[in-house]
Amino acid sequence: MKRETTTEPSNADVEAAYDEYVMPIWKSLNVPVERASNCTLEDFEGTEYLDLFSGISVANLGHNDEAVVEAATEQLETFVHGCSYVHPNQPVAELAERLAELTPGDLQKSFFCNSGTEAVEGAIKLARKYTGNQEVVALEMGFHGRTLGSLALTGNHAYKHGMGSTINDVVHAPAPDKYRSPHRDLDDAAFAAAAAADLERTIGTHTSGEIAAVVVEPVMGEGGIIVPPADYLERVAEIARDHGGVLIADEVQTGYGRTGEFWAVDHVDVEPDILTQAKGIANGLPLGAFTASAEIADAFESGDHLSTFGGNPVSCAAALATIDRLEDDVIANARDQGEWLAEHLGVLADEYDVVGDVRGRGLMWGLEIVAPDERGPGPADVPAPAPKRAAAIADYLREEEQIVAGVGGYHKNVVRLQPPLSISREQLERALEGLRAAVDASR
Ligand SMILES: Cc1ncc(COP(=O)(O)O)c(C=O)c1O
Repeated sequence: MKRETTTEPSNADVEAAYDEYVMPIWKSLNVPVERASNCTLEDFEGTEYLDLFSGISVANLGHNDEAVVEAATEQLETFVHGCSYVHPNQPVAELAERLAELTPGDLQKSFFCNSGTEAVEGAIKLARKYTGNQEVVALEMGFHGRTLGSLALTGNHAYKHGMGSTINDVVHAPAPDKYRSPHRDLDDAAFAAAAAADLERTIGTHTSGEIAAVVVEPVMGEGGIIVPPADYLERVAEIARDHGGVLIADEVQTGYGRTGEFWAVDHVDVEPDILTQAKGIANGLPLGAFTASAEIADAFESGDHLSTFGGNPVSCAAALATIDRLEDDVIANARDQGEWLAEHLGVLADEYDVVGDVRGRGLMWGLEIVAPDERGPGPADVPAPAPKRAAAIADYLREEEQIVAGVGGYHKNVVRLQPPLSISREQLERALEGLRAAVDASR
């Protein structure tokens, strides 16, 4: 039966249509949106929410950034589509050149697609073609996407129930998750060495020894905002290359200023061989990319890869405007506000024992919510994850404070704060006040 349409839909109308006609995928945030601007989401009843999640870490400039809308509109009025691989066009050419400048080391040639998962899929194909090897190593608790290849790399059963473990030749090494690691008492340098040894052992025991790639997120997002210790990524790059493979840095979530540098690998001394991007690339317009050195990229021959919509000129024009704005002052703001937030989240964790750990970089933060009187998994002195309490904190924030935050992590107990990078100090102060009330109410 067809639903009656009204000229002015309400929250309930939109939710009812979702229930009836949209596949039941993920509704945990429950904030219908009629319009959005900067860090504010407005629902159909006029309620405004402070957005600390950016549409899963996408609207890095803030929603509906004027310069991006203008650039996209101009391109929209010029031409929308001609298949960028059939009809070379200026936005793609310019963006590719810009990425060659922005990406580390000798990364030079990009392929454009429409999403993060496609970027990862393409990067795996390129790594296999270039190295001649098949096996790919990823990290437990990592997330790389939902299509079959990238899902295979995703190190979390929660995303695979009922769908098999997908493609072959993928193995997972332990993640550098210090909070629940048996090596948690080591200092950072020794912990990095131990985590790297885990990777080496995984390759030695679960692969033929000749691999195509190691794929890592420089800060693990969906896994619970896990920041690897200094030197870890450097060791991972060496290990990948020692085994005939390349290092794929999956910057889908961390790129475009999220961690306070343009790329998360800019914080460390690592030049990945392939870098995947999406999410913040065009501030909300669909676009993904992977960038490789000319030597690696040229392993692709004509016909090896393609995407009909990939490199859509409207999205590419939006991406160029996004990069300009990020470089102007938005990344600097992320660094600034991130330092302030880090300090204040640390104080919050000291005050409340239900906040077991605070981790992050730039404006990508996670609060590990725990049950202080229960134990495990992990070493005996680590409190148990408290996923229901984490969900209650996000619910309280939304319902009582009109603040949108995410919840994630392997144990579903990490409250995620990933606001637009343009967020002001005043907005962050409001966010922190709300968070304090929500944590307090959850005890
Ligand atoms: C690190 C990482 N890689 C890949 C993906 C998949 O991106 P998309 O949802 O655009 O396919 C995500 C999405 O969360 C991600 O965080």
